[in-house]
Amino acid sequence: MIIFKSPSSLNNYLIKKKSIGKTIGFVPTMGALHQGHISLIDTAKKANHITVGSIFVNPTQFTNTVDYEKYPITTDQDINLLEACGCDILFLPSKAEVYPKDHHIIHYDLGDLENVLEGKYRPGHFQGVSQVVHRLLEIVIPHDLYVGQKDYQQCMVIKRLVELTGLHVNVHIQHTVRENDGLAMSSRNLRLNSTERNEAIKIYEALNMVKEEIFPGELNNLKNKAVTFLTENKFKVDYVEIADAHTLKLMDHWDGKREVVILVAAYLNEIRLIDNMVL
Ligand code: PAJ
Repeated sequence: MIIFKSPSSLNNYLIKKKSIGKTIGFVPTMGALHQGHISLIDTAKKANHITVGSIFVNPTQFTNTVDYEKYPITTDQDINLLEACGCDILFLPSKAEVYPKDHHIIHYDLGDLENVLEGKYRPGHFQGVSQVVHRLLEIVIPHDLYVGQKDYQQCMVIKRLVELTGLHVNVHIQHTVRENDGLAMSSRNLRLNSTERNEAIKIYEALNMVKEEIFPGELNNLKNKAVTFLTENKFKVDYVEIADAHTLKLMDHWDGKREVVILVAAYLNEIRLIDNMVL
């Protein structure tokens, strides 16, 4: 695996490879890698000649300084994992390289995606995600981009970003990789102590409860039941919502036909966890 720190060196290298017909698959990450990330790399490898992974903990998408400062950094271990799964290139830029002094800030028109769910609870978060993904896409210029359904709303934001910028990249959304007990893999899980790790599974149980008990008709009682379940299990809930799986429009009523997604965000002590399930 070749490690690039400089955007221009990586960009020049990849432009040469593309000129001889090589296709590029790209997996952006913030590191503290786990099997969820590795599954994206594996998928990219199957479909492309060259797979590029990036690790950059993007300050502009954090709405909470403590969350940013405590974001787990395990770079040596990440490099070993990427080597082991056959990733071809790791892009490991510094803050100054991603955001040089002359970097101009664009406001992205993300529409309602920015006002609901994660957008509502983490104002500015998706502008930060758009900013960094846009910058990374301009450096890597991949044919294919791989993102995880674990961050459902982020996937929709990235699709919208690609539309807005007119970049020619195919966005592939990959299913959520879970631990054996169902907990969605996440870098933030590293911050859970062993008691919290056992308690965290209740998020998955809440999603399953809604999945089992959803029927056409009114949805508020069911959402409230899931909130109560999580609250009784030590969570401080930001939201349990049911939304149209294609538009993310929140729903209070289900016709029994529309494809829906159940989304949860809740704190276990200091750690904020999110998960979702598509029906
Ligand atoms: P990060 O949380 O490191 O996630 C990187 C990619 O891995 C994202 O596309 C995310 O959805 C995916 N991922 C995370 N957990 C997963 C799981 N359990 N199963 C499958 N895929 C999973 O998301 C980000 O970083 C950042 O916001 C980023 C897009 C890199 C921009 O900074």
